[in-house]
Amino acid sequence: MKFFIDSANLDEIKEANELGILDGVTTNPSLMAKEGITGSQNIIKHYKKICEIVDGDVSAEVISTDYKGMIYEGERLADIDPQIVVKIPMTKDGLKAISYLAAKEIPTNCTLVFSVGQAILAAKAGAYYVSPFIGRLDDISTNGMILIHQIVNIYTNFMFETEVLAASIRHPMHIINCAEAGADVVTCPYHVITALLHHPLTDIGLEKFLADYRKGNS
Ligand code: G3P
Repeated sequence: MKFFIDSANLDEIKEANELGILDGVTTNPSLMAKEGITGSQNIIKHYKKICEIVDGDVSAEVISTDYKGMIYEGERLADIDPQIVVKIPMTKDGLKAISYLAAKEIPTNCTLVFSVGQAILAAKAGAYYVSPFIGRLDDISTNGMILIHQIVNIYTNFMFETEVLAASIRHPMHIINCAEAGADVVTCPYHVITALLHHPLTDIGLEKFLADYRKGNS
């Protein structure tokens, strides 16, 4: 299972990359705005910086909502760096844009996916990744993990090549459950990645080892 960081914060991306577990980055307009990155030139520069930090795929989301705008923007984003994956929302125009870009061999990440039907359409259109949002489904009392299981099963049944990129990850159990479900990728906020690291017995155990070492060497 690949680990992506869901962030546009360069320090967080660097730190996650230094852990040696990072396979890529996803961003969205909200995450870019959170970092104060505005204006197309600054956004492009920021994507370049992200691509310099990591080796893997970097999802860059279009802002346009119409087909022509999406493909224009998608082609410009893809020109930034070969690592760029164009993130396109699951809409009618989005689907058309995904098919167009797939035919041009530009990889896409179909985002804002909340149902199995949407995931099937994304795969049929040739999306490289599909991004079902677990946390936002959980937020409305719908089990987001069930969606991940269903998509993985259906993609396996029909040997769809689209990779399941579980998004809107809110806590470590989402990551573990995605691994059990067979999701290809999880994209997580930095604090959720680091939360996987910690265990109180590790801390207690280390403290005891070091205390015993100090006793033996005093
Ligand atoms: O990048 C899309 C997704 O991961 C957003 O997560 O926490 O805003 O629902 P969240």
